[in-house]
Amino acid sequence: MGTSEIHAGWDSSQDAHGALTPPVYSTSAFARASHAELKALFERRAEGFAYSRSGNPTTAVLERRITALEGGIGALAVSSGQAATTIAVLALTPPGSHLVVSSRLYGGTSEFLDDTLADLGVEVTVADPWDLTAWEAAFTGTTRAALLESVANPGGELCDLPALSAIAHARDVPVIVDSTLAGPTLYRPGEHGADLVVHSATKHLCGHGTTIAGLIVDTGRFDPRRCPTRWERLTRRNRRFGVTFADEYACGRSGLLAYARAKYVTDLGATLPAASAQQVLVGIETLDLRTKKVSADAAVLAARLHGLPGVEQVHHATIPGRPDAALAARDFPHGTGGVLALDLTGGEEAAAAFSDALRLWSIAVNLGDARSLVCHPGSTTHSHLTPAQREACGVRPGTLRLSVGLEDLEDLWEDLSRGLSAARAVTEVAAIA
Ligand SMILES: Cc1ncc(COP(=O)(O)O)c(C=O)c1O
Repeated sequence: MGTSEIHAGWDSSQDAHGALTPPVYSTSAFARASHAELKALFERRAEGFAYSRSGNPTTAVLERRITALEGGIGALAVSSGQAATTIAVLALTPPGSHLVVSSRLYGGTSEFLDDTLADLGVEVTVADPWDLTAWEAAFTGTTRAALLESVANPGGELCDLPALSAIAHARDVPVIVDSTLAGPTLYRPGEHGADLVVHSATKHLCGHGTTIAGLIVDTGRFDPRRCPTRWERLTRRNRRFGVTFADEYACGRSGLLAYARAKYVTDLGATLPAASAQQVLVGIETLDLRTKKVSADAAVLAARLHGLPGVEQVHHATIPGRPDAALAARDFPHGTGGVLALDLTGGEEAAAAFSDALRLWSIAVNLGDARSLVCHPGSTTHSHLTPAQREACGVRPGTLRLSVGLEDLEDLWEDLSRGLSAARAVTEVAAIA
């Protein structure tokens, strides 16, 4: 894995100057040798770059690298993790269709499903991924995709992807897995049943909090030709582009991602800038080392916080009694990433006091940064959800999400202890009053 992180998708001997790091092709357009050559690109009779809104050599390196890391057949780089989820869902769910989603999702995803996707006439049923009967009951005759997170944000809940995927696949429904919190060195969803993997590359993949980026990977399981009438967008000749996107599969390429690039990335302009792609490529070079360290440190911090006065609950797969402990042992041998959450007994007031007392951890809504970050999901990432939605994904008034960075573990612990003392102080004052 470490070798692919550094070498996959780029061969410096093919570069005119032997650049070891993939260069940033900072150009809007690409000149072709003739009128006929440029025309052939637009007619999809030739491969190459014409205009960076729909493809660029630097982003193409990133696409090849994530394809190799996830063991897929192709990838699409887009402007953000939010764009990755949105485009993956839009490509599979036409108006009038239905989507099954996990109740434990990043708040921004839930907001998209409830608002913009609803405007587009797609119905959504939310189901608990830990209840296989409820998950199965959520599927209808018009279900065209299922969506879940491999490690849920913010509670770190793991899902039994082979079991959930089998239910979807029995109905010819592809499964989209947002694997942002894990990343491919800890977990490859394609090996457990996912058809598409989406990443907010903003997080662990970039690893340094410098860039907003998203990726969609086709794992090679989905083939619309198995059920051509269901996936007519792909199996019929597309009037606008003059091709049948499903034909791509005959050449081992993703027809779905070719369609998503031609239509959605182009129409929505959800392009990843080349400079951002390079930042993510540099981040990926150390992904293996970083994710293993933050996973180990998050597990230690979770264990130390568990059971302390003022801490009602710690959310991490290693906490005794968690229903997903067996899944962690089975599917995540190198850990579950650097995110954990804790519920403070004193509610939002205690969470605020805890955060404000910290000196090393930054109060910020990102995760997977080199720096350790703390955020209060109830008033930030999950604030626009209904109280019932927040409860379903484990976000309570006293919940704090911690994203463990690369600092020394004991420094992080000392700072958390300071936060905890401040939280206890306000809770005790409130109890006396
Ligand atoms: C699990 C998950 N998916 C998707 C996103 C959206 O990614 P981005 O912020 O890159 O648009 C986030 C952002 O926090 C996330 O945590």
